[in-house]
Amino acid sequence: MSPSVLFVCLGNICRSPLAEAAFREEARRLKLDVVADSAGTGGWHVDSPPDPRAQAVALKNGVDISALRGRQVKPADFRRFTHLVAMDHDNLANLRRLAPPDATAELSLLLDHVEGRAGQAVADPYFGEDDGFDVTWTDVTVGARALAAKLQRRRG
Ligand code: 4NP
Repeated sequence: MSPSVLFVCLGNICRSPLAEAAFREEARRLKLDVVADSAGTGGWHVDSPPDPRAQAVALKNGVDISALRGRQVKPADFRRFTHLVAMDHDNLANLRRLAPPDATAELSLLLDHVEGRAGQAVADPYFGEDDGFDVTWTDVTVGARALAAKLQRRRG
């Protein structure tokens, strides 16, 4: 089965859409056959486009995420995806709480996949300054690249 990755944050308008975009880019570069999506544990931004600051940082780095729309994690995601990748510890704890008994997805933090950064969170940039989104982009890119490389090694 091809790997499939759902990136998860709180609102699905800042970190996880950026992680999804960075991961798609890297998967394309590696010619990795993989499905990617993102979702939030909260439901406030269902059907909303990504935060304008997230769209701006993505565009600055060559990726247009304006067509993405927010959605909430649902029980079926725990079987549909092979990997559920949380941005921070609260998201991960919420995923563990929401997991149905027949869940098969592997749960992790995004930065668990980066050597030397296991257990670290991608900080929530929503209430911070605009330059926080540059840090977010750097973190999700490092994480997405490490995860894509790991999935490629597993398939090789
Ligand atoms: P995200 O950021 O989880 O990275 O999408 C947030 C977006 C919205 C809210 C919090 C965090 N909010 O409270 O609405």
